[in-house]
Amino acid sequence: MSKTALVTGASGGIGLEFAERLAKEGYQVTLVARNKARLDEIVARLGQGHRALPADLSVAADTHRVAEDVKKNRYDVLINNAGVGVYGFFSETPLETTAAMTRLNIDSLVELSHAYLSGAKSGDALINVASTLALLGFPGASTYAATKAFVMAFSEGLWFENKHRGIYVAGLLPGVTKTNFHAAAGGSATEKPPEALSQTSAEVVDVGMKALKSRSSPTVLTSFTNKAMVFLQTRLMPNKVRVNIMGGQGPAKPGKAQPAAQLKT
Ligand SMILES: NC(=O)c1ccc[n+]([C@@H]2O[C@H](COP(=O)([O-])OP(=O)(O)OC[C@H]3O[C@@H](n4cnc5c(N)ncnc54)[C@H](OP(=O)(O)O)[C@@H]3O)[C@@H](O)[C@H]2O)c1
Repeated sequence: MSKTALVTGASGGIGLEFAERLAKEGYQVTLVARNKARLDEIVARLGQGHRALPADLSVAADTHRVAEDVKKNRYDVLINNAGVGVYGFFSETPLETTAAMTRLNIDSLVELSHAYLSGAKSGDALINVASTLALLGFPGASTYAATKAFVMAFSEGLWFENKHRGIYVAGLLPGVTKTNFHAAAGGSATEKPPEALSQTSAEVVDVGMKALKSRSSPTVLTSFTNKAMVFLQTRLMPNKVRVNIMGGQGPAKPGKAQPAAQLKT
């Protein structure tokens, strides 16, 4: 019988790459995202055995529906990848915009992790996509970075709690990745993250797929450059210097918060 996987945020970027890679390795993949037409297209391209499950994971009722599916289907692998950023100073960003992000990046991830791990068996694996910003912070996208710090700490704890069951849990920490993320967060086309620091989704997922096979580390950084940057800023610098550097590179300056209507949360 084929192995099965569910990937959230599978209509583009890192999630689509995970879905394609798992399908290539023989998994029957269930793809979750809001854009039904796009998911249907991808499923048709992937071929028989795959399935679209459209849902808005910032909406509690949709998350409950996906959690029920997770409990019923007992997937071999769950990739909690769906997530958005919100660029702008916290006090200048509408609270509902921030709340929709935390419902997606934290609440739905916790609910799907619980639905999965309460019925998981030895050999299963859960990957939660966090970010190197979990370790570095990011003034100008403070709540986003904090959601990813949550995902990292949560995943590390679950790694320990589940290893005796033979279940692998990891937090995957990509750095800047060339996807739609920056634009969806309200980033300007002219102030893109530096190319030299950027990875492709394929490079990120190479590391994620290796982690699924080696099943060793609770925290997986996706490039040497990211590891070096984290080491430099968290081990060799005082915290205040790190926060000032990250704030100086931040995606927003005072008075430049994106209007909520422009954000795709
Ligand atoms: N790109 C980076 O630089 C970077 C760096 C570190 C970590 N990450 C993390 O990587 C993950 C994937 O992001 P990405 O870079 O691949 O961005 P992306 O290209 O914008 O993809 C985001 C995916 O999440 C889905 N999504 C967004 N809102 C959703 C919602 N409310 N409910 C369900 N699905 C939703 C999107 O599909 P729909 O629009 O169809 O819903 C899309 O499939 C995120 O957790 C992000 O925080 C990204």
